[in-house]
Amino acid sequence: MGRMSPLPDGYRVVEVPEARKQEFLEVDRLAFAFDSTPETDALVPLTLPWDRTMAVERPDGTFASVHASFPFRLPVPGATVDCSGLTWVGARPDQRRRGLLRSMIETHFARSLGRGEPVSALYAAEHGIYGRFGYGSASDNVRVSLGRGAALRPVPGSDELSVRFATVDRDVHTTLVDGLHRAAGQDRPGWITRDTEVLRIRAIVDPPAWRNGGEPLRIATVHTADGEPRAYALLRRKEKWEAAGPRYTVDVREAAAVDAAAAHRLWSFVLDLDLTASVEGPMLPVDDALLHLLVDARAVVPKVTDNVWVRILDLPAALTGRRYAAPVDVVLDVTDTLLPANSGRWLLRTGDGADGAWSATVERTEDDVDLALDVRELGAAYLGGRSVEALRRAGLVTEHRPGAALAAGAAFGWPVAPVCSWVF
Ligand SMILES: CC(C)(COP(=O)(O)OP(=O)(O)OC[C@H]1O[C@@H](n2cnc3c(N)ncnc32)[C@H](O)[C@@H]1OP(=O)(O)O)[C@@H](O)C(=O)NCCC(=O)NCCS
Repeated sequence: MGRMSPLPDGYRVVEVPEARKQEFLEVDRLAFAFDSTPETDALVPLTLPWDRTMAVERPDGTFASVHASFPFRLPVPGATVDCSGLTWVGARPDQRRRGLLRSMIETHFARSLGRGEPVSALYAAEHGIYGRFGYGSASDNVRVSLGRGAALRPVPGSDELSVRFATVDRDVHTTLVDGLHRAAGQDRPGWITRDTEVLRIRAIVDPPAWRNGGEPLRIATVHTADGEPRAYALLRRKEKWEAAGPRYTVDVREAAAVDAAAAHRLWSFVLDLDLTASVEGPMLPVDDALLHLLVDARAVVPKVTDNVWVRILDLPAALTGRRYAAPVDVVLDVTDTLLPANSGRWLLRTGDGADGAWSATVERTEDDVDLALDVRELGAAYLGGRSVEALRRAGLVTEHRPGAALAAGAAFGWPVAPVCSWVF
């Protein structure tokens, strides 16, 4: 860790015990401009791990800014690594731009490294905030707007599956959704699972204040003839009547399927609900089965946005923690102003490979540099969803040995597009 940046006089970083929950929430509400009610709070569990929740305190003892992190297992190409999921970052509007975030980030890095977490991940509220701290945008998600009745190419086995439709019930659906979510995302980089009960419940809560004029949250589940669940969609229809008749919309909060037949059955159902005219899809991976199955993919309106961002905190642990899609032998010259231990030359060399997944060693070297890049670009490439060669073509990676970026791009890339299906 480099030298810590100064805070304004008298300010200090403190841990936030649960007893100070209301003070913490007040900063968050001021930062994100939202309110809540006791009714909503009673239904929505607070997911914060209190031993990882921090604030910057002003000289008068009140909070100026806050942040927290989740202890995640982050799926990466061919493996999973411990990951500190940065969350609840906010500064009071009257305390902005005085270095509080910078100080919180440095605290977050030091504490994450102290716990042995080699990477951090986050969702960025605004795109321009986190690159300066070495986070790289590592994945995208796509949302599609579909017209009712959008046709899908056939998938064998879909017809043998059946659909059940119900109102979401915490007691019935928490475990079902979690089990299917895990199974559906197996082997997908970035697919963070909800590993605490509060996160599992938070995924399906439905306080009336969140309904925006729509119905209570419903769930469509796909089952085999034996009743085994294979897919789900959490959705809400919103009533709308026009002179020509009903034009309801279907807002899908989250959907996941364990295989193509289940995906086909699920979307065939969601795309043909009575009274509806259009469907707003959830965050999907850019390679989702639905996008391949649409007969007329041009008829959908896809919206691609950045998904999780990744920060490499401990370079050797992070780079040896994943697998590679091709053999590679490359000397990286990395710049990392905030965590100088990552800076300098590293030899990344793959060893054994089986089933298209090579493991690698990483060691210090004095050899000639092949590729020079900032730790931000390494974070961007880490989940396999951004090409090192594309980053070179964008001028963000400098190549000193011709062909090195192509080779590294092939190794860092991954056939399954990274995505996290939920915002943390
Ligand atoms: C984003 C937020 C936490 C920044 O806090 P802050 O204490 O003002 O940030 P700092 O003063 O430490 O700024 C650090 C650097 O980031 C830049 N920065 C901060 N917020 C930024 C933003 N939204 N967009 C672009 N740059 C930003 C600052 O200009 C500064 O740049 P510098 O290092 O070149 O001087 C705060 O503005 C906030 O609470 N915003 C609303 C809630 C939010 O968006 N939270 C983030 C959730 S992911």
